[in-house]
Amino acid sequence: SSSDNPKIRTPIVCVLGHVDHGKTSLLDRIRGSSVVSGEAGAITQHIGATVVPIETILAMGGVNKNLKFNIPGLLFIDTPGHHSFTTLRARGGALADLAIVVVDITDGFKPQTIEALQILRGCKTPFVMAATKVDRISGWRSFPSETFLSSFAKQNQRVIDLVEKKTYEIVGSLAEHGFSSERFDRVDDFARTLAIVPVSAHTGEGIADLLMVLIGLAQRYMEESLTLAVDGPGSGTVLEVKEEKGLGATIDVILFDGTISVGDEIAVASSTGVITTKVRSLLQPRPLKEILIEDRFSRAKSVAAAAGVKVSAPGLDQVIAGSPVKVIDGNENEVRESIERE
Ligand code: GTP
Ligand code: MG
Repeated sequence: SSSDNPKIRTPIVCVLGHVDHGKTSLLDRIRGSSVVSGEAGAITQHIGATVVPIETILAMGGVNKNLKFNIPGLLFIDTPGHHSFTTLRARGGALADLAIVVVDITDGFKPQTIEALQILRGCKTPFVMAATKVDRISGWRSFPSETFLSSFAKQNQRVIDLVEKKTYEIVGSLAEHGFSSERFDRVDDFARTLAIVPVSAHTGEGIADLLMVLIGLAQRYMEESLTLAVDGPGSGTVLEVKEEKGLGATIDVILFDGTISVGDEIAVASSTGVITTKVRSLLQPRPLKEILIEDRFSRAKSVAAAAGVKVSAPGLDQVIAGSPVKVIDGNENEVRESIERE
């Protein structure tokens, strides 16, 4: 486990934004720089998610190391930007504690950027704007992996003006949708002003700053609600139902609360109503270097929130993606009814 403090669960960060604006590249970069900078802690791959441990984030250097951090790390969920995937994005937005809205700094606001804002406002989810592809600003000189401010200070005046102009176009678009925002280093009160962090997934510039803002939001808003959420019966959302060779139908679950263990009785919605079944195995992807091993998954006896996990159990073939999934401890009818209500 990536957690030294099992009492506080890992906040879930959903990445939203318009198609091709750079969500997956940003996550790849976060994963990549984590691997590079991180003797501190290894990145765990999860079903549908990536966990970056706090030690690794601190090692990237964007964070004031004198601050005390209680969260174990961040769990990132990618979403597709194509317009037909609104349901998937809404689902991601709903289970997230925090979010990153990615907007291409040269392209500006587009329909799914606006949709992301609406989803997050509806869920009251705190978020940060990543103004990405800053390396594509004409004349930009790249200083790989540096903080935004360090790199920005070394640009010529024309580039500085262009970045300011593009940033204020984003501030303007956000204002049109009722959000007050500023570049992150000019924000005094993160509770009232949305932070915009210029980044590049290609050069790594600004990534440390983005993670710093996220950690700040997590510490500030999440700590109370995250405390103790690791204990108790597991609760999650089904991202996908997948046929796996040798296992039959399995469900990929983002567990956002509590713990799930092999042998647990779970309830989940299927096309024939709520079903209950017993967890046969819990599977997580093996590290990339081990991917050639025949068994693509490693097995766990128990998994605690927040995490992505593949659940194998009898009778999962009719399960509906997006359904809540809950561990039954005690009253089965209560759990069934709570799933029917959702
Ligand atoms: P969907 O999942 O289809 O919504 O797209 P996405 O938002 O995940 O975008 P993706 O990360 O796939 O990037 C789209 C294109 O933009 C790719 O060609 C990337 O190489 C490019 N790109 C992403 N980030 C950057 C960046 O920081 N700088 C530059 N120059 N190109 C980028
Ligand atoms: Mg993508």
